[in-house]
Amino acid sequence: MIAILPCTAIAAILFRRYFLIALTSCLLWNKSGSSMAVDSKPNILLFLADDLGIGDVGCYGNNTIRTPNIDRLAREGVKLTQHIAAAPLCTPSRAAFLTGRYPIRSGMASSNRYRALQWNAGSGGLPANETTFARLLQQQGYTTGLIGKWHQGVNCISSNDHCHHPLNHGFDYFYGMPFTLLNNCQENKPPELDAAFQAKLWLYSQIIALTVFTLAAGRLIGLVSIRWKIIACFSLAGCLFFISWYSSYGFVQRWNCILMRNHDITEQPMRLERTASLMLKEAKSFIKRNRHGPFLLFVSFLHVHTPLFTTEKFLGKSHHGLYGDNVEEMDWMVGEILDLLDKEGLKNQTFTYFASDHGGHLEAQDGSAQIGGWNGIYKGGKGMGGWEGGIRVPGIFRWPGILPAGTVINEPTSLMDIFPTVIHLAGGILPQDRVIDGRNLMPLLQGRTQKSEHKFLFHYCGSYLHAVRWHQKDSGAVWKAHYVTPVFHPAGAGACYGKGICPCFGEGVTHHDPPLLYDLSRDPSESQPLSADTEPLFDTVIEQIEKAIEEHRRTLTAVPQQLSLYNIIWKPWLQPCCGTFPFCWCDKEGDSTQSL
Ligand SMILES: *[C@@H]1O[C@H](CO)[C@@H](O)[C@H](O)[C@H]1NC(C)=O
Ligand SMILES: *[C@@H]1O[C@H](CO)[C@@H](O)[C@H](O)[C@H]1NC(C)=O
Ligand SMILES: *[C@@H]1O[C@H](CO)[C@@H](O)[C@H](O)[C@H]1NC(C)=O
Repeated sequence: MIAILPCTAIAAILFRRYFLIALTSCLLWNKSGSSMAVDSKPNILLFLADDLGIGDVGCYGNNTIRTPNIDRLAREGVKLTQHIAAAPLCTPSRAAFLTGRYPIRSGMASSNRYRALQWNAGSGGLPANETTFARLLQQQGYTTGLIGKWHQGVNCISSNDHCHHPLNHGFDYFYGMPFTLLNNCQENKPPELDAAFQAKLWLYSQIIALTVFTLAAGRLIGLVSIRWKIIACFSLAGCLFFISWYSSYGFVQRWNCILMRNHDITEQPMRLERTASLMLKEAKSFIKRNRHGPFLLFVSFLHVHTPLFTTEKFLGKSHHGLYGDNVEEMDWMVGEILDLLDKEGLKNQTFTYFASDHGGHLEAQDGSAQIGGWNGIYKGGKGMGGWEGGIRVPGIFRWPGILPAGTVINEPTSLMDIFPTVIHLAGGILPQDRVIDGRNLMPLLQGRTQKSEHKFLFHYCGSYLHAVRWHQKDSGAVWKAHYVTPVFHPAGAGACYGKGICPCFGEGVTHHDPPLLYDLSRDPSESQPLSADTEPLFDTVIEQIEKAIEEHRRTLTAVPQQLSLYNIIWKPWLQPCCGTFPFCWCDKEGDSTQSL
């Protein structure tokens, strides 16, 4: 009887120390990029910011934040004012960006409350049978590189199968985070990932501990055999150990905040103080290595996601606290890369793009300080599928001599349009065996047509359709019907303060029948819903939109759910590990990089 308690303690220690070591070790290898010189195909340089709001950028009307380099791109190119993300959250929005397809088609749209990948060691991610623009450009002779954030999964069945890894999705070179930056990556910040879930686990661990205690002390014990006592003891201790580990803070940092070069982990956990300089160095050296082109470089910024780690040069320099400092640092990095293009004489041969993966994160606050982005006049933000603030982002294109400088286009466009656009530029052919939702933007960007090819855009929140936009070409109206909207907290706040982000379903949303209808061309802030009394076209518009939904739904097929609970959870056997699991630690950059 008394043996049970020490047994629990010993088992916990043994588990922690030795048990999992035996599971696996990391096999790491390098794959070197291939390069082929092809003339006349432009280089493709894509900048994607993380969580940047449309109201945070100078050329979109912000007169206090300094983004001279992004503004310069707009001055020398085309600025889109109605550039729409396919989802209001990183993982699904980026899946759509990479594949030109709504995330619901690839299984990257969630029906539960885990709407983005939570761990490097989850089994979900961009399926291997999805085709990214990187893959197609690679086939057209491009050398393809990704520097920065991925957040599309890593492994499927072992810790080094790399089934979801960028190198398995058409990138010749990868340097960056397979996951995403988050507060847990910086020691003194309040942990961000899964705080509620971790609290629940803590509760479970208490319940298990209590059960162990009861087993040990209670009369129940006389009723079971020694063998079962031992088994119960070990399994409960194992659970206890797992839960305490899972819910501890250092765990998240160790498992998620890592940097990789190709398949090789270079820092575990990463050291944020030098990450920006490493990203910049890598982006520049990729361009220099591939100056004879053609290349695709996707600079997927870790900026401006929390914890907003900013180097000294920019710290305290902006008018908008830590968030503003971080935006200005990112703009400076854009400038450094553009300067290198100039210096290498590549400016006119490079098709350059800047956007953000979705709107600013309104609920990101540190005490009373706003540490998330600003979405200008648009309602809502990150996490909200329907409201404009979550999905309308900056979108700028530059290609001197080909795209008219200083142009502004107000037509609806999507981040999914990058896929067919760059494939067109590379001379490739779009996949014929699947629906591609993006449209080639070149005719619009060059002024050969005045109208966007998009008639309807579907605004999903996870796998739930929240709103639909109809661009009525003859009248120029842009209607948006909301079927579901989040319940704001506090009411009327325009965000879900205290809840992290707004939910997509359940008690936290309101269903609208008839839908809330707005004409964005007259009311871009979505402040006055129209009704059959105030809008003579109300019924006609709703009818058109419902027909479009029916047609859209007919094109959807059931696919494996990448964000199901099973695929989301941390699985020790999938953990990318530098060292011998669970002793994962390394720092392979040494001190070779100077600070910015
Ligand atoms: C500029 O951006 C900051 C930081 O997000 C924001 O607080 C401010 O309101 C913005 N200003 C304008 C004019 O949009
Ligand atoms: C690049 O294109 C611009 C715009 O057409 C032109 O003025 C400039 O001379 C070009 N530069 C070079 C180096 O060809
Ligand atoms: C990828 O595979 C899944 C599962 O077999 C299938 O449902 C899906 O249609 C496939 N996707 C494509 C684009 O072929």
